[in-house]
Amino acid sequence: MLATKVDLNVPSELLPRLFEARRQTDALFELVRPDSLYERPIPERHRIIFYVGHLEAFDRNLLSGRLLPNASSDSDFDRLFAFGIDPVGGGLPTDQPSDWPALDHVRQYVQRTRDDLDQGLASLRDGSLPGTGEFSPALLLNVAIEHRLMHAETLAYMLHRLPYERKNVPPRPSRLALVPAISTMIEVPAGPAMLGLLRNGDTFGWDNEFQRHWVDIPSFAIDRYKTKNSEYLEFLNSGGYDNRTWWSDADWLWKESNHISHPAFWVQAGNDQAGNDKEWFWKGMFDEIAVPPDWPVYVSHAEASAYARWAGKSLPTEAQWQRAAYGSPGSQCRQHPWGSKPPDATRGNFNFENWDPVSVGAYPQGASAFGVEDMFGNGWEWTSTVFAPFAGFEPFPFYPGYSADFFDGKHYVMKGASMRTAACMLRPSFRNWFQPHYQYVYAGFRCVSNPIA
Ligand SMILES: [Fe+2]
Repeated sequence: MLATKVDLNVPSELLPRLFEARRQTDALFELVRPDSLYERPIPERHRIIFYVGHLEAFDRNLLSGRLLPNASSDSDFDRLFAFGIDPVGGGLPTDQPSDWPALDHVRQYVQRTRDDLDQGLASLRDGSLPGTGEFSPALLLNVAIEHRLMHAETLAYMLHRLPYERKNVPPRPSRLALVPAISTMIEVPAGPAMLGLLRNGDTFGWDNEFQRHWVDIPSFAIDRYKTKNSEYLEFLNSGGYDNRTWWSDADWLWKESNHISHPAFWVQAGNDQAGNDKEWFWKGMFDEIAVPPDWPVYVSHAEASAYARWAGKSLPTEAQWQRAAYGSPGSQCRQHPWGSKPPDATRGNFNFENWDPVSVGAYPQGASAFGVEDMFGNGWEWTSTVFAPFAGFEPFPFYPGYSADFFDGKHYVMKGASMRTAACMLRPSFRNWFQPHYQYVYAGFRCVSNPIA
């Protein structure tokens, strides 16, 4: 029997969005030279070849038996490519390239799966194939689209670590000139912060985004911009990585045992035996340049927290970040930091606009009501909030581990977006999260402190 409240309509915009998301991920795999698709650029993750098969396997496993007939002639590959990995605290994968199927076989699987799904979705849309009615097509297709777009971002992190000689360089926009930005702190008055998403509203959201609620936030001061490379360099040059004072026990242990002494996106050039005046370079997606002083620094949560202690400040809570981004001097909350107009290229460095960051002051039109800039795009921002469910959380029955597997007290909420975050995820309720010792995310931070005296 059909559930009475399920809308079986297939919204017309969703299939074009799915096809566009496929174009994004296809283009990413094109960046990798064919002889390098079995590389593992990040030790904690699968080899690249896994992701070639994973995106289609996910769609098949999600949609078959729910929107589409439960028929697959590739059940072995459906299982092999079903799940990614995120080991915390060791247990790195040890599989070899020879453990994975041949590239031709994986690509044939991708094409076969895509053809099957497209045929089924077209039939569903013209009404010749009834859906099961348990979940709406809009919900499941949004999950498929956003899952793929999230991988379009995390694959970029991964390909960022791939040696340059293993990548094809696509045409890309020339870099923006540096925009000097004077760091200041901005007072945010006491007021409400809106978190979460209304259940049964029109907006798609993942399970962890529900339910909508409000939190009263005392006044605080927040950095106008994300912490810049030049500021982080002061911390590093002051001996920040060698001073136990600034690090929590777990973070210090991680840093020491992994010999972490600088951001993963920085490399030091030169050969000064005295250890002085060696120049730092930014390891970009396709080239290295001298570290741009006004770009945001990208670091792990552990490094961000150490910097904040050194600076006498702290990382914002998720609710403080929400207040700074969407709040206003009155009690109203904005739809976006800048107001109600939809996100576009004048508001921030997001939606695949660039492969690398830009200066933190490059988008004054993206400022919030309080004048806080660069909150969306140019790098996610770490918060001090441990990723946990909101009251009323219910896992998606068709993807129960999406959030719940990470409610382990070992992951922190990130807000905002990076230059490789799709525009559809720039909604107030979207929550990202990572474990604190993962250095490869396009993520920086800004600090908060008590109100300015
Ligand atoms: Fe996935």
